[in-house]
Amino acid sequence: MTTSTLPKSIEWVGGLDGYVAMIDQTLLPQQTRLIECRDVETMWDAIKRLCIRGAPAIGIAAAMGVVLGVRDCSEGDLASLRMKVGSVCDYLATSRPTAVNLFWALNTMRKCADAAAVEGVDDLKQKLWQQALGIRDDDARMCRAIGEAGEHLIQPGQGILTYCNAGALATAELGTALAPMYVAYENGRRFQVYVPETRPLLQGARLTTYELSNAGIDVTLLCDGMVGSLMQAGRVQLVITGADRIAANGDTANKIGTYSVAVLAREHGIPFYVAAPGTTFDLSLADGSGIAIEERSAEEVTHYRGKPVAPETIKCYCPAFDVTPARLITGLITDRGVIEPVTCEKITRMWA
Ligand code: MRU
Repeated sequence: MTTSTLPKSIEWVGGLDGYVAMIDQTLLPQQTRLIECRDVETMWDAIKRLCIRGAPAIGIAAAMGVVLGVRDCSEGDLASLRMKVGSVCDYLATSRPTAVNLFWALNTMRKCADAAAVEGVDDLKQKLWQQALGIRDDDARMCRAIGEAGEHLIQPGQGILTYCNAGALATAELGTALAPMYVAYENGRRFQVYVPETRPLLQGARLTTYELSNAGIDVTLLCDGMVGSLMQAGRVQLVITGADRIAANGDTANKIGTYSVAVLAREHGIPFYVAAPGTTFDLSLADGSGIAIEERSAEEVTHYRGKPVAPETIKCYCPAFDVTPARLITGLITDRGVIEPVTCEKITRMWA
């Protein structure tokens, strides 16, 4: 496997007057169609509709969205351009609430606008563009570092369960949860990956199986409700998931269903790891109770690809994420190394 076999979730094509190309992840794996984003409204919509999704990829998309939103700004002075950056960031911040990478990226763009020693409006636009590309490049580097930090956890012949999609499609390159698997595979180790479908939008079934099987990795799909049975059968030796936001004490928000997997892993004595870059840590929150959990439309539960699968007027419960308490997490695989056991002291020492 080489990184060239992995899908490119998001790219900037051309110069500052170019566009953002993204795979429309809502159509995978049946169709591989590119979306061309040339304005910030299209980017907001792509983030909201999950055409681009996964915490780090959303951050990169938001940063590129800021550039799209200000590059045609014709106001002549720097102060107006800086105000425009602020209003575009406020707008993009309303697209999705849970993944902290989005807010981290927008803050980075705001700081760039406010702090950059610039010669004029055109120079600031160039600096913002370079900053957005830098966020993408840094994410690719952090994915590789996560992979190298966590690959030793993977032994030949193991059954490894992951959840949702925390791979190349969710990041700039190797992914987070999938990065240790890709690096272990590059290093010659062979193992079996189990992927629950991840209702309601099936990121596991549609995206993770697609990504892993294209990379040559042995992958098996199951329904979310089969995880307990699979673990009871002794087929899982390790769990690695991604994260959308990690509080200072290690409580972790990730795709709805992750908490259930963590409880089952504890019951069966299976190590449960979370893989994430520094940009997913939110040290402003003491614990997971302060994490905003996105509620999505009931239609995502009552329908599948536009077709109803439930009675028309049924009530629905539809949080998109849940919080796994730190006590259920064996370790955090980060781009600066593995935090194990997970304690507030270790987390703050690493990221303060
Ligand atoms: O709603 P999504 O598809 O954006 O949710 C994505 C997840 O929950 C991922 O597991 C998480 O963002 C980790 S991405 C490397």
